[in-house]
This record gives sequence, C-alpha cells and structure tokens, in this order.
Amino acid sequence: MSAEKTNQSWGGRFSEPVDAFVARFTASVDFDKRLYRHDIMGSIAHATMLEQAGVLSIAERDAIIDGLTQIQAEIEAGQFDWRVDLEDVHMNIEARLTDRIGITGKKLHTGRSRNDQVATDIRLWLRDEIDAIIKEITRLQEGLLEQAEQHADVIMPGFTHLQTAQPVSFGHHLLAWFEMLSRDHERLVDCRKRVNRMPLGSAALAGTTYPIQREITCRLLGFEAIGGNSLDGVSDRDFAIEFCAAASLAMMHLSRFSEELVLWTSAQFNFIELPDRFCTGSSIMPQKKNPDVPELVRGKSGRVFGALTGLLTLMKGQPLAYNKDNQEDKEPLFDAADTLRDSLRAFADMVPALKPRVEVMREAARRGFSTATDLADYLVRKGLPFRDCHEIVGHAVKYGVATGKDLAEMSLDELRQFSDQIGDDVFAVLTLEGSVNARDHIGGTAPAQVRAAVARGKALLAAR
Ligand code: ARG
Repeated sequence: MSAEKTNQSWGGRFSEPVDAFVARFTASVDFDKRLYRHDIMGSIAHATMLEQAGVLSIAERDAIIDGLTQIQAEIEAGQFDWRVDLEDVHMNIEARLTDRIGITGKKLHTGRSRNDQVATDIRLWLRDEIDAIIKEITRLQEGLLEQAEQHADVIMPGFTHLQTAQPVSFGHHLLAWFEMLSRDHERLVDCRKRVNRMPLGSAALAGTTYPIQREITCRLLGFEAIGGNSLDGVSDRDFAIEFCAAASLAMMHLSRFSEELVLWTSAQFNFIELPDRFCTGSSIMPQKKNPDVPELVRGKSGRVFGALTGLLTLMKGQPLAYNKDNQEDKEPLFDAADTLRDSLRAFADMVPALKPRVEVMREAARRGFSTATDLADYLVRKGLPFRDCHEIVGHAVKYGVATGKDLAEMSLDELRQFSDQIGDDVFAVLTLEGSVNARDHIGGTAPAQVRAAVARGKALLAAR
C-alpha cells in the first residue's frame, strides 16, 4: 500500500490502511488545529535554519516559506480543508505544503520529528497566551486600584468566620484582591521563563544527524534558552503543568472574589450594586437579578483545577521519551488558558463598574460590636493587661446584646459599669473612623495607608 493510498506520512511500513475508527480515535486535528500559527512559525524558522546549515538550497527554503505563508492565509480565510485522516495540525499543514509546492515540501521535515515540533508549538502558543493573560491581570488590577483610591474612606465591616470582626476601609478590602493578583502575575512571569525554552532540534528523541544549528532557530523564535537534553525536550510537559498550577491559584483567587460578590449582592448583605449588564434575570421569578458572572467564574475554577490534576496524572506513569499519551496534554491546557483568560476579562470589565452602598456598609459596621477590640486596646493604654481588658469588653458586649445597644451608643455611666478606667475620651476610639484611622501602619486599614498602598500599586503596574 503506497503512502498516497493510506494518506499517511508513515504509510511505507504498513500493509493495510488504518481502521477508520482508529484514525478518528487517534487524531488530534480537531483540537490542535488552533496551533496552526505557531506550527507555521516553527516551520519557517526550521527551514531558515536548514538553509543556513546547508541542508536546503535558498530556492527550496524560499518555496517552503512562501508555501507556508500562503497556507496561513488560507487557514485564516477559512479556506483550509482540515483532514482527520491526516491526524494532526502538523501533517495537515505539511501535506498541504507538498500539494502546493511539490516535492520540496517533503524536505521541510528533514532533521525534525513531530515530537519536537509539537513540543515547540505548544510552548510558542502558551507563551502568547501567558502574555495575553498577564495583560488582563494588569487591567483588573488597575480597576481595583481606581476603586480603592475612590473608596479609601468608605467603611465596611471586616469579617473573620464571616462574623463582623473589625471595621475596615472598603478600599483596603479591594487591595487584598490586588495583592493576590500581584502574586498571580509574578507566578506567570516566572512560569513563562520555563515555557520559553526550545525543544526544537531534539527530533524524535535522540537528536538528529543533520548539522542543525539550534542557536539559529532559538533566536528566530525568541526562545530564551535551548533545551539541554533531547529526551527531556520531547517529553517534558512540566511547563504546561506549572502553567495550570499558576492558573489554578489565580482561578481560586477569582473564585473567592466571586463568592464575596455573590454574598455582597444578596438582599441580606446588600453591600454593592452590580450593573445590570453583568447580571441576568430569572425566567420565573420577576424580582431576581442574579450575579451570574461571579457565579460562573466560581464554577469555572473547577475546570482549571481539573486540568492541573489531569496533566499531573497524564505524566506520572510515562517512561522517556515521547509517548502518544502526550497528545492528551492539549485540551486541558487550552481549556485552562481560555477559562482563566475569559474569567479575568469578565472581572476586569466588571470591577470598575462595582458600586458600594456606602450607607449600608457603614450601618453594618456600626452593628456587631466591630469596635470591641478598640475598646480593649484603649484599656490597655490605660495600663490594664490585655487579657483583663478582653474580659471587661466581653461583659460590655454581653450588656449591649441584652439592651440592643452598640458600644458607641452606651452612655459613659453605662460603660463605666465595666471599668472605672473608662473616661470621656473613649468615644473617639469607639467610632468607626477612630477605629480604622488607628491602624496606621504599612498594610493597615487606615485610609491614609490605603492611599499609600494605591500609590505603591500604581508604581508596581507602571514598572511592568
Ligand atoms: N499529534 C501529536 C501530539 O499531539 C503530535 C506528535 C505525534 N508524534 C508521534 N510520533 N506520533 O502529541
């Protein structure tokens, strides 16, 4: 059976065509065709290098580059006929090249294997994705800084155990999200360095007998380094796992953020207003305005954690070097990147449009004895040991619960039942402003510190 008849580049060794179902089962073109641009980029660099190495003539190189450029245009015009019998993106493009330019097309694969080709393509593709994701992170962070600056003086209850704990600036709360995203950004920048190493030249697994010059392809493709071992080059998928780990952390952050937005938009909290364009209604309950975007992002985090677990499991049993198992790396990786990018985009669009309900937040902070710690700290300053102060304030809170009064609503006489150290100056401490302003150090919630943190954040983004 000729290679023509089986339509496979490895047809020579086979005496019957591959079973039709097996052809579909083993094919990856349906999902790996999205690598076409990076596949062509890698092939052009490879052909350019082969000419400089004396393996291709100038005319051959030019015919190949021309052909590939036209194939890219065909794909982008939606005129490319993707064939499942050609298995994957690599063989589809190579076969089309030979259609177009004849036998010179068959020389492109000299000194190369699909094993190093696909590893190169994924890295080039992921590098671009990381750059796009990083842009969305920065856009979201800019939105958070704007909001934090504008709302540094807005006071809300801070929570531990989802119980009112201490008053905080709404801006301060938003900047907690900013910090998490800064770490996500750092992780992706770091991950990109290990994505950006070149496997091309590893060939099938052992390298190649042609006088290839890997420095040339490395430079042409903008890789930072050349992979140092051909066996590792074709089989390493650490970079994809690492990306999914960084993406999982980022999605976990967005999911927590989502959870707060869902809580805060509920009638029970009513802390913020989400513009209608980020919500949907109910087909049965006319009063509903559902926070679909945060809910969906919270839900989508599971897909990305799944991709991470999937890729770790994919790799754990594989002997060196390339195994067909690796074809299963793409769908989870693509899905993780798409999910993270879209979720960040939705948040970056949504965050500048969040509106705090200032009075509701303030009222919630005034309830729930959020300044109890401030009263204890006040008594410490009067010379009492902290544990005793804690106890005293505990009694005052108990009294407040029974009488329905917050600490700031009690009279001086009422407060003095619990300690004669309490004086008239206590009321400044018990106000919400007094409480937040007192936490006046780097990382604290005093509005002045929030503004300083915004300034640091802006400098950080400007240096990117
Ligand atoms: N479609 C394959 C993949 O995604 C390309 C490499 C195949 N190599 C091979 N020797 N079958 O991994």
